[in-house]
Amino acid sequence: MTTTLITNLSEAFTSDAAATLVTDAAILIDGEKIAWIGKAVDAPEADTVIDAGYRAALPGWVDSHSHLVFAGDRSREFVARMAGQDYAAGGIAVTTAATRAASDYDLTRLVMGRAAEALAGGTTYLETKTGYGLSVEEETRHARIASTVVDQVTFLGAHLVPAGMDAQEYTDLVCGEMLERVRPYVQFADVFCERGAFNEAQSRQVLTAARDAGLGLRVHGNQLGPGPGTRLAVEFGASSVDHVNYLDEQDVAALAGSWQGWDPATRSGVAGTVATCLPACDLSTRQPLAPGRELIDAGVQIALASNCNPGTSYTSSMSFCVATAVLQMKLSIEEAVIAATYGGALALGVQDKIGTLVVGKRADIQLLNAPSVAHLAYRPGMNLSGPVFRAGKLVA
Ligand code: NIG
Repeated sequence: MTTTLITNLSEAFTSDAAATLVTDAAILIDGEKIAWIGKAVDAPEADTVIDAGYRAALPGWVDSHSHLVFAGDRSREFVARMAGQDYAAGGIAVTTAATRAASDYDLTRLVMGRAAEALAGGTTYLETKTGYGLSVEEETRHARIASTVVDQVTFLGAHLVPAGMDAQEYTDLVCGEMLERVRPYVQFADVFCERGAFNEAQSRQVLTAARDAGLGLRVHGNQLGPGPGTRLAVEFGASSVDHVNYLDEQDVAALAGSWQGWDPATRSGVAGTVATCLPACDLSTRQPLAPGRELIDAGVQIALASNCNPGTSYTSSMSFCVATAVLQMKLSIEEAVIAATYGGALALGVQDKIGTLVVGKRADIQLLNAPSVAHLAYRPGMNLSGPVFRAGKLVA
């Protein structure tokens, strides 16, 4: 196996449980994995040596929530929202029409372009959802296309009831033929449990069918108002509940309860339901920011994700999400970086493989054009993305 030493790092933030920061660091890559990390002066020899130019290193971002399979433009809806109109789930239908009209070739190119943009920004592991197809043929096509580009695909047929269809009839279709057809391409299933989308009974039906099909579960919950989404996610043992803008005390207690069998110091035990906060979406829809600080203080593991999609969050910038979480949600830099790396991995169930700079993990490493990870929030809005390594290879 070929070894590569990345040396002359100003610091390496590992995202491990102790939030370890190694100053004047070096990282040894052996093939696809991290083989050593420590002070540069102690570094072992390697076949190739890369001088990092005193840049900071951290794990590649793990973006655990995006909707990249779409065509069309919804900037007018965004402009109307900035003029005071509320966000409504119905906007999804606009994207559905445009996406259904796109050829396989065009759609694949669009997804590839967005994934490349995310990679250039430091995202080395990417999840994306279906949910703009809303028919058996289209959901299957979107899942198939997504599976050729990203790391994990989530089936979100239960995103919106398509025009002209009865809600129950559509839910039955999602849980029956649609689930069966998308199954080979997806690892998780999701439901938009919200007023204007799917109610509690329909959400239960989707989660039950997906669980019976052997899929991991997640829920879009409590985005636009209080509701049963978060509690349902916990009840079904979902890996994550995403958005979580409108939580009451019972929701927070339910989430905290799901982590009681987990030891955060060793990161072992029974994982609960990750609360995935989507700050770029919160800003773009002018919703209250998800209560990330309160959730961490209550003992809930959180993730930060981009929610890149044409309706509520047209950005794949995880750095922007981290900066917002620090500046607006009162997370420390360390907490925000951990949520955007390890937290995402936990939400996707791949925390044993990625999300930290620890010996034996896949060498997914991003360098910043800055001397410390603090610059991510200290210089908000600046593009600080430097070289990106994925599975040990320089990819951006
Ligand atoms: O995560 N909440 C539902 N789905 C997306 C938005 C979809 C859209 O408006 O196109 C979200 O915000």
